[in-house]
Amino acid sequence: MRDSYKKIVFLTGAGISAESGLATFRSENGLWNNHRVEDVATIEAYYKNPDYVHDFYNEMKPELWNAKPNKAHLAITKLQKEYPADVHIITQNVDTLHEKAKSKNIYHIHGQINQAVCMNCGQVLETWGDVTSETVCKNCQVMGMMKPNIVFFGENLLYMDKVEELLRSCDLFVSVGTSRVVFPAASFVQTAKYYGADTIEFNLEATSNNFYFDKHVMGKAGETLPKFVDGLLSKVSDS
Ligand code: APR
Repeated sequence: MRDSYKKIVFLTGAGISAESGLATFRSENGLWNNHRVEDVATIEAYYKNPDYVHDFYNEMKPELWNAKPNKAHLAITKLQKEYPADVHIITQNVDTLHEKAKSKNIYHIHGQINQAVCMNCGQVLETWGDVTSETVCKNCQVMGMMKPNIVFFGENLLYMDKVEELLRSCDLFVSVGTSRVVFPAASFVQTAKYYGADTIEFNLEATSNNFYFDKHVMGKAGETLPKFVDGLLSKVSDS
């Protein structure tokens, strides 16, 4: 691991929001234990039963709106503000906790729950309230074509050109709170490693195929990430 970095890229997953009280996907009481992916996170499910899919995301919203960023989110913001490097956040999360932590350079590759996309005109609209099959698109005025702006399994991820450029040009890749079981995000560390970045993983436990990481920091991200950020900042002040 180097002593200082010029371009740092974070990949965050549901685990970074766990200490804000939000459910992850694959823990014991995870979201995928109470709903089948096939019923709520595929385009086929949306066409077959749009209201069931809308209900799944609508029911998440109140908890998401009330959630507060935790020390892990705030540590990334502190790094962006105080460390002399370009710091970017690629997130798999659809919550807005990185934004609430006043971070910048955030790329929601799996979409955002506070948005919906019109399947008629393609317009992406902010939707803090419920979206249903009666919702009218504010842009083209067509009803019933609004889909949560969530990337369903089998759909293309968002911002992938930017992601590719970041992975090839960063000198530090930091994975936080992701099981790395969903591709292509699971393999981002390989690209970063291939192009010469130092790589570090923050998780409660070791994830599979994690040999691309130079370092593993076990523990709650709300505790481990602030320590890591303070360590980087102390090296700047020492130099
Ligand atoms: N600190 C650090 N890591 C944590 C914490 C915590 N406090 N709590 C949980 N974790 C870790 C878990 O050990 C697990 O490895 O976070 C990870 C959460 O994994 P998942 O629930 O699989 O969530 P994620 O990796 O974000 O899922 C990726 O799968 O279903 C899709 O679109 C969905 O974006 C999601 C993607």
